[in-house]
Amino acid sequence: MAQLSLQKLNKRYGETAVVIKALDLEVRSGEFVVIVGPSGCGKSTLLRMIAGLEDISGGGMYIDGRYVNDDTPSERGIGMVFQSYALYPHMSVYENIAFGMKLAKLPAAEIERRVMESARILQLEPLLQRKPKDLSGGQRQRVAIGRAIAREPKLFLFDEPLSNLDAALRVQMRMEIASLHRRLGSTIIYVTHDQVEAMTLAQRIVVLNRGNIEQVGSPLELYDHPANEFVAQFIGSPKMNLMPATLLRAGEAESVVRLWNGKELAVPIATPAAAEGQKVKLGIRPEHIEWAEVADAPNLADVLFVEHMGNETYHYLDSGELGEPWVVRDASRSDIVVGETVGYRIPPEHCHLFDESGKAFARRVQGNGEARIGANQAEPVLFSSRVRANPIH
Ligand SMILES: Nc1ncnc2c1ncn2[C@@H]1O[C@H](COP(=O)(O)OP(=O)(O)O)[C@@H](O)[C@H]1O
Ligand SMILES: [Mg+2]
Repeated sequence: MAQLSLQKLNKRYGETAVVIKALDLEVRSGEFVVIVGPSGCGKSTLLRMIAGLEDISGGGMYIDGRYVNDDTPSERGIGMVFQSYALYPHMSVYENIAFGMKLAKLPAAEIERRVMESARILQLEPLLQRKPKDLSGGQRQRVAIGRAIAREPKLFLFDEPLSNLDAALRVQMRMEIASLHRRLGSTIIYVTHDQVEAMTLAQRIVVLNRGNIEQVGSPLELYDHPANEFVAQFIGSPKMNLMPATLLRAGEAESVVRLWNGKELAVPIATPAAAEGQKVKLGIRPEHIEWAEVADAPNLADVLFVEHMGNETYHYLDSGELGEPWVVRDASRSDIVVGETVGYRIPPEHCHLFDESGKAFARRVQGNGEARIGANQAEPVLFSSRVRANPIH
């Protein structure tokens, strides 16, 4: 187990291309941290810098308080698992796991002990004599993980290890990696572009965008209290709806916005007086929009698409000139059809508000009237009290 500290870490390629910008991050001993962000945001670069496979252009990196910028990968005591399993095709599973330790000239008995131990942990014992070509994708990935475990690293780095696997296998491997973490208690830094993997595996998520950290927090903190539009739309699927609005009246306990359709809405969000008149965006998650009777609904829309997932239904509502449709999620089956006009309501207590630069205004935490970000609203929200608009049969 190791504690990792990154201080003002920078990575430049050549003179101009800055890929990682003054990045600060503390990873606690035994913690499972997931770094998530879109393709090209610098995740692999950051992981390779931590592993010692990529030079650090600026800033400091510390493992258990020791400065390691100039240490070689093996001196850092890190085990890394890549997206491409990078197994040696001509070697058996046993030889693949043993190879790095042979190079490091470990005693044969010690190598055998470690290979057998990792094979036991990953249930690879029956496969030890097979070649990689005779393994399934999931088994190959397990060998790659076994190779990292056998080195007994203080710190595990995973770079999109499940991206090459099919959906069912990804779910299975996700559970295997989570239980591996529980059993070994090791510090894990795991990189992915998949927010579902991040939400399900992480104790803390780091959202990375263009080499900058947008927000760090537990999965539900990020879901309930995104610090900005980027995080709001990156975490959660389907993503949060962002509706254009104007801030009519600022306030410490409540703010009034005028929506794109002229309707006014008072939301329990703190905004400074200086922001009055500003163009803002109102954020509302798909599961939080409520259906309403067409006759007295505050908002109306035509339904563009309906997606039936079996256990839930997504409705895409025409947002007119505004571009992307609004998405409404029902946690049940729906009999709404394409072309229908529906009424809906935006519950103020579930709204988020973002300023012109995309930064979130603080949402009020219910109870003490104090405005702050960061509390968890743990209860799941179910909206099923839909009222049919104009039934078509
Ligand atoms: N050797 C290199 N020279 C110049 N730019 C690079 C090099 N390697 C990566 N990059 C750039 O750094 C950025 C981050 O890449 P990467 O860390 O691979 O992203 P991610 O893993 O998040 O998809 C990309 O824009 C990529 O083009
Ligand atoms: Mg990558």
